[in-house]
Amino acid sequence: MTATDSATSGPKHVAIIMDGNGRWAQQRGRPRLFGHQAGARRIREIVNACPDLGVKYLTIFAFSTENWKRTQTEVSGLMSLFRRYIQKEAQDLHDEGVRVRFIGDRVRLEPKLVKLMDELEELTEGNDLVHLTIALNYGGRDEVARATKRLAQEVAAGRLDPETVDSETLARFLDTCVLPDPDLVIRTSGEARISNFLLWQSAYAEYEFIETLWPDFTKDIFGEIIARYGGRERRFGAVPV
Ligand code: FPP
Repeated sequence: MTATDSATSGPKHVAIIMDGNGRWAQQRGRPRLFGHQAGARRIREIVNACPDLGVKYLTIFAFSTENWKRTQTEVSGLMSLFRRYIQKEAQDLHDEGVRVRFIGDRVRLEPKLVKLMDELEELTEGNDLVHLTIALNYGGRDEVARATKRLAQEVAAGRLDPETVDSETLARFLDTCVLPDPDLVIRTSGEARISNFLLWQSAYAEYEFIETLWPDFTKDIFGEIIARYGGRERRFGAVPV
């Protein structure tokens, strides 16, 4: 990729902040968890649309380090939704050639959920059609802090020379170390915020903030956004030649 690449080839890595489940449920007079369940059902269609749209990497924000502040009912409902989702979808995702990874801090998650996450990563590790990364108990600042801690431990152990540390060194300690940076970040539901998602990795990403609530997000809307991206010129800080 050159420094002034036109985006015509389409985004290789798309990251999505799946927002608006609560409002979607509220509009229907239903509890918030009803919206999260509808949101979970949207994921498959979007993952399946990726190969045709040329999207190799899809990263979705399922639960942030700040989401623990929600009510106990919502947090435990979401945790059991994640467990059920993995149990129900694991085999189909694998059969469809999807490689699943999780990013975020697993320490605060229930052991039975972490076990399912580990098993799904292991089951799908040989797949390469689409790389689906699910951010769970993830926060960009928390990720950089955890990476810095591990980097400092390497320095303290004498295995890393601090004089050699640059941004690429730090990137190797991030949860996303094996992933390319996102080209495009989409947020649904009309909010124009990053909310601590992939802060480091999105330095040169394009952004799309759309009004649609996540449970109404379809592969056609996804396709329209990808097509719009194709018209953009990405300069990565350089001047066009
Ligand atoms: C934001 O909507 C959404 C979340 C905090 C949870 C995202 C979870 C899902 C889409 C479903 C489950 C995911 C997986 C991977 C199985 P919000 O609740 O903040 O909506 P609001 O802003 O309208 O209240």
